[in-house]
Amino acid sequence: MPHPAIARGHVAVITGGASGIGFAAAKRFLQAGMKVAIADIDADHLARAGELLANATAGGAGDVLSLQTDVSKPEQIEALQDAVIARFGGVDVLMNNAGIELTSTALGPRDNYQRIIGVNLWGIIHGSQIFAPGMIARGRPGLIINTGSKQGITTPPGNPAYNVSKAGVKAFTEALAHELRNTPDCAVTAHLLIPGFVFTALTARGRTEKPAAAWTPDESIEFMLARLAAGDFYILCPDNDVPRALDERRIAWAAGDIIENRPALSRWHKDYADAFKAFVEAK
Ligand code: NAI
Repeated sequence: MPHPAIARGHVAVITGGASGIGFAAAKRFLQAGMKVAIADIDADHLARAGELLANATAGGAGDVLSLQTDVSKPEQIEALQDAVIARFGGVDVLMNNAGIELTSTALGPRDNYQRIIGVNLWGIIHGSQIFAPGMIARGRPGLIINTGSKQGITTPPGNPAYNVSKAGVKAFTEALAHELRNTPDCAVTAHLLIPGFVFTALTARGRTEKPAAAWTPDESIEFMLARLAAGDFYILCPDNDVPRALDERRIAWAAGDIIENRPALSRWHKDYADAFKAFVEAK
């Protein structure tokens, strides 16, 4: 049985819905008989995606709303909500998924920090805060799915601004889940989607063929739907390279840095290479 919010005639809003994981979700929600609004900053991709989705659904263009939206700007998310309510009457599923990955270093320029945090973290805070009250008032089962990342949990070296944004998404979404479950008469729940390596525009880096290690966006969304049906908050996706058991060891090691008083990011510290390897291999 799918999650009850995912049902014929219900309404889904997906940010970053013109590409990758968001587009795959839009396709799948339409297949479930839902009406879908995709919001994206990229006007060309949005127009193409809207057309593809309308052609792929029995309801045609009437079931699809495409709206150019910059999720880092709250007034644009408010306009998105107004447009969705005017067209479809309300929202049952909100997927705050838009994300960018620009380069950064800890002491590097502030610009990319502001842009990445503006989209990846503020976009999710704006989306949740603006849509949740109406979803709760609707009085029926609802879902808020925020797209995080393993990089927000194990925070590997390489792109601290991205890690900071996604660690913020995790902390915010945990707090949101807690608040929603303690809100009287609230049937809306929050969930943290943690994709594995997924072949999309974000990760293609010039490649035109999916690397063997990566999942497709469609596989990721099928996994997400199964875990939502099971009631998971942490939707921790594997990929073709990293099974759940390995993720679990990596997450436990990262938490262990504090408990064991090891240096920061000891997983990538030469003095801890053997210990980390042994920890991963231990049953
Ligand atoms: P994608 O690049 O295919 O899709 C992201 C979409 O977000 C694009 O259509 C883009 O135009 C849109 N977007 C960017 N800035 C925006 C803004 N300010 N307002 C509205 N839309 C905006 O990438 P993908 O991989 O589908 O990414 C979706 C989410 O999944 C992101 O949050 C990403 O960080 C996350 N993720 C992806 C992973 C992967 O391996 N592909 C792994 C972990 C997390």
